[in-house]
Amino acid sequence: MNASFRIQRFDPEQDKKPHYQTFEVEVDETDRVLDGLNKIKWYQDGSLTYRRSCAHGICGSDAMRINGANALACKVLMKDVGNKLTVEPMLGFGIIKDLVVDMEPFFNDYRSVLPFLINEEPPPDGRERRQSIEDRERYDDTTKCILCASCTGSCPSYWANDRYVGPAAIVNAHRFIFDSRDRATEERLDIMNEKGGVWRCRTIFNCTLACPRGIEVTRAIGEVKEGILHSRTTP
Ligand code: FES
Repeated sequence: MNASFRIQRFDPEQDKKPHYQTFEVEVDETDRVLDGLNKIKWYQDGSLTYRRSCAHGICGSDAMRINGANALACKVLMKDVGNKLTVEPMLGFGIIKDLVVDMEPFFNDYRSVLPFLINEEPPPDGRERRQSIEDRERYDDTTKCILCASCTGSCPSYWANDRYVGPAAIVNAHRFIFDSRDRATEERLDIMNEKGGVWRCRTIFNCTLACPRGIEVTRAIGEVKEGILHSRTTP
């Protein structure tokens, strides 16, 4: 099929503001949007700039706005978006070039929630910290995050408030807050209770709709809110 890609372009060395450019490209219905972008870059305009690496929905590097919704270009099939599509960088981040956004603020927010296991105690049997199936299930959903920023870049609260850590950071806080092996739950709940923490979430659900891994992001945020309330009311 012939597809028309309307792509937002921005070259900081030449442009004062972004503009749109349309490319016609021959694709199969079963091609991904990323295949179409690759064809444009390889055969029409080598200056078109976007991130991609694994091309299989694992690395999270090619999140972008496709027909107005954040998604991974390597997971969206052409037959599902039709032959006229608009491709833009995610909202809420500075644009570096074309579809590439500045992810540094996103990763700073991620780092701020201590996204790693904290436990200074030696493992009980000297070898490993065992966990029941039920305890492991408690945070299973939030282990699936690939840090693509689709959720954070679709959140109006994040667009409006640059102090808000955003849904992806909260998902990664959740992953350790509810890990029975971790010993920094209170510290993380304190971070989540700060001005830029969970209370900025207005339960809009854009994040849940945008997540390419199917994580119930809004639910995870709600559980962290409950965790804060519980820890503040339980002696
Ligand atoms: S290129 Fe790795 S997730 Fe799409």
